[in-house]
Amino acid sequence: MAYGRIFLTIEMSVLTSGTALQGAMQAKRRFEELDYQKTPLGDLILRRRILPSLDDIEVYEIILGEAFLMTSLFTEVEEALSRLGLAAAKAAFPGESLDVVVGGLGLGYTARAALEFPEVGALIVVDFLAAVIDWHQRGLVPLGPGLTADARCRMVQGDFFQLALARGDESGFDPLAAGRRYHAVLLDIDHSPSKLLHEGNCAFYAPEGLRRLAHHLHPGGVFALWSDDPPDAEFIASLSAAFATCEAHVVRFHNPHQEREAASTVYVAVTPTLNPVVPSPAGGA
Ligand SMILES: C[S@@+](CC[C@H](N)C(=O)[O-])C[C@H]1O[C@@H](n2cnc3c(N)ncnc32)[C@H](O)[C@@H]1O
Repeated sequence: MAYGRIFLTIEMSVLTSGTALQGAMQAKRRFEELDYQKTPLGDLILRRRILPSLDDIEVYEIILGEAFLMTSLFTEVEEALSRLGLAAAKAAFPGESLDVVVGGLGLGYTARAALEFPEVGALIVVDFLAAVIDWHQRGLVPLGPGLTADARCRMVQGDFFQLALARGDESGFDPLAAGRRYHAVLLDIDHSPSKLLHEGNCAFYAPEGLRRLAHHLHPGGVFALWSDDPPDAEFIASLSAAFATCEAHVVRFHNPHQEREAASTVYVAVTPTLNPVVPSPAGGA
């Protein structure tokens, strides 16, 4: 682990002059690399920046390889993923305590929004990168202390797609309870069903992959997915092949970096119930 590589450069220049000292201290306050790790998915960086153009707001950012993975500057859609997915789960399982999986911890906004639902009895958050889980456990990111203090929340290191696609009753997202089923799975890992962090993830987004995910859900259970693309007709067809119902919600938000409105998509799909509601015959009582 290389910790604070930028600091190192800045602190070397501090030795040279008083002006350099002032400049370096200012730069240190405005831009701080909190962690740097080499991972199987590419170089992983956690950084904190102060944005003078936005009233000195403090933002946390994750960069993975070439991809800008997550920012704390706008988190509306990450939170909408939980709100839309869990609203559907509440409607499907009224009065029940909900078992939920979040795929992709990141900065923790989706997980925190899920825990805001008192109906959520247990939450498993799966992340492939041990470093990301470690940031939360060490309190290096703002939502870490709250998530780790919530007794309902457990962070599991693993490949979400491998766990979702595995066959047999021994598989599952919970290493302590093989074959466990969930009321909702909320996923935010790839940029969209066609823009993937890793090409190996593509099998998951095809009908057979989605059917395998549906096996981890109770009848009537909900799968919700964040996507940075507009609703995609081909993916909606794949969801419709694996689930009983499917909706694509366009969620709009303000992007302060670009000073414009932006939009992302949240898909919400529901598995068939054991006792489907049979419409009464026309004219029947
Ligand atoms: C866009 S971030 C998630 C952001 C999150 N919704 C939030 O509110 O901050 C994607 C996360 O997925 C994780 N990830 C990448 N590939 C994964 C995989 N195959 N299985 C599980 N997690 C993965 C990354 O480490 C990263 O933490």
